[in-house]
Amino acid sequence: MQIPDSLPLLTAMLDYVAQNRHAFHTPGHKGGKGLASSLLDQSLGALDLTEIPGLDDLHQPTGIIAEAQLNCASWCGAKASFFLVNGASVGIQAAFLACLGPGDTVMIPRNAHKSVTAGLILSGARPIYYMPVIHPDFNLPLGINSLQVADKIVKTPGLKALVALYPTYYGTTWCLQEVREVWHGLLIADEAHGAHFPFSDSMPISALKLGADIVVHSTHKTLGSLTQGAMLHLGDAAFCYHVRVKQALDLLQTTSPSYLIMASLEGATYDGYRTGQKHWTGLAARADLLKKKMLARGVRVLNSNDIDTYGIADVDSTKILVSTPSSRTILAALIDNYGIQPELWDENNILFLLGVGDTEESIAYLENALLNTVTSEHVTLTCQTLPELPRQCLTPREAYFTEKVAVRLKESVGRVCAETLAPYPPGIPLIVPGEIINAEIVDYITAAKQADVHWQGNSDPTLQQVMVLKETR
Ligand SMILES: Cc1ncc(COP(=O)(O)O)c(C=O)c1O
Repeated sequence: MQIPDSLPLLTAMLDYVAQNRHAFHTPGHKGGKGLASSLLDQSLGALDLTEIPGLDDLHQPTGIIAEAQLNCASWCGAKASFFLVNGASVGIQAAFLACLGPGDTVMIPRNAHKSVTAGLILSGARPIYYMPVIHPDFNLPLGINSLQVADKIVKTPGLKALVALYPTYYGTTWCLQEVREVWHGLLIADEAHGAHFPFSDSMPISALKLGADIVVHSTHKTLGSLTQGAMLHLGDAAFCYHVRVKQALDLLQTTSPSYLIMASLEGATYDGYRTGQKHWTGLAARADLLKKKMLARGVRVLNSNDIDTYGIADVDSTKILVSTPSSRTILAALIDNYGIQPELWDENNILFLLGVGDTEESIAYLENALLNTVTSEHVTLTCQTLPELPRQCLTPREAYFTEKVAVRLKESVGRVCAETLAPYPPGIPLIVPGEIINAEIVDYITAAKQADVHWQGNSDPTLQQVMVLKETR
């Protein structure tokens, strides 16, 4: 065998950077332009430090890290904050591990991020799901019917915690206040996409202000931290979870946390506190103008008129979600002709994400490209109604630790599913591990396969086979 003599990863990265693409995706600093200002003129190599005397210890902070975390807490409006060096994912996992145990009941949105599934597996908690509202113009879960959630809470005795996805990937929020009126217990908010909310009143109100107990921010997505930089905040009433959260993070995070990531969290949050109001208010106003021009051309773009429809309580203007039937052609044109790289796309939608590294000029560039590329052609989406949630017989943890086999889809009715099967869009799982496959689910999958629907989570890309638990129940 020939010994390789190349660096394919770096080579591809450098080639990519040389293309000078206009980034409308994470990280929010956009190629360093909005990187925490405290780091801008520093030598990253020299600052890649570790726990040496004087530099404190993330797992047992008593000095500068403790002080930096406290500062970030006050800038964000939290009682206490923890630095995360493995993204918001580790914060969500830690929140579960800290607050929930085997058999505890937790209410979660059916379209929760996979770190919530990991939290369920780690903790052994039993999920009860609430369904998001699929917006027919986008075929995406953009809202939540808060009254329905409140009603479900009232009818669920012994509930230990409520998890909220706030905001969605697309920047939409729902009416947490309405739920807070009936639920005074533990509220964990996945505010991964809203780390900038505490800093500008032109953004949706932050989950911390709404009284959430544990709020997890993916700081790197919109603010100026390095990728993987994230934070877990405790609200005023949640200080009692401080020790448990610390212990959980001690278990889950690396023993060699990156000081660069931690310093970028400190600096990005400081920037947010000092200049966030001006910056995000300016970006939001400029993005709203872009949307207005697109709407005037007849292009469907998510905008503030969508507030109070389909379970949407507010919209983060800095997420630009365009619905268009020829999304693939438009995507290719944007990349080839304008060097624009969006955050996310599917058959009918393209999402552009603005971050702290964006400016009025970068939005103007995007606006020009969009106005020249996207036509007002209308999408008629066929949003199939998803089948009723299947019966749950095991918790995700129990299913995870049980032996599995692959069976033909046609023969899977009555078996306990061992994988998540989610059509995307809308990205809401049809079935998750521990639930029993029924005929309606098999029919849905069979029909969706014929319609060329894209799937997430399936082990067999052709979906001829599905993973189930070996033992029958
Ligand atoms: C809704 C949501 N929550 C949590 C996460 C995890 O964030 P991170 O990538 O920082 O771990 C993501 C990542 O995309 C997400 O979309």
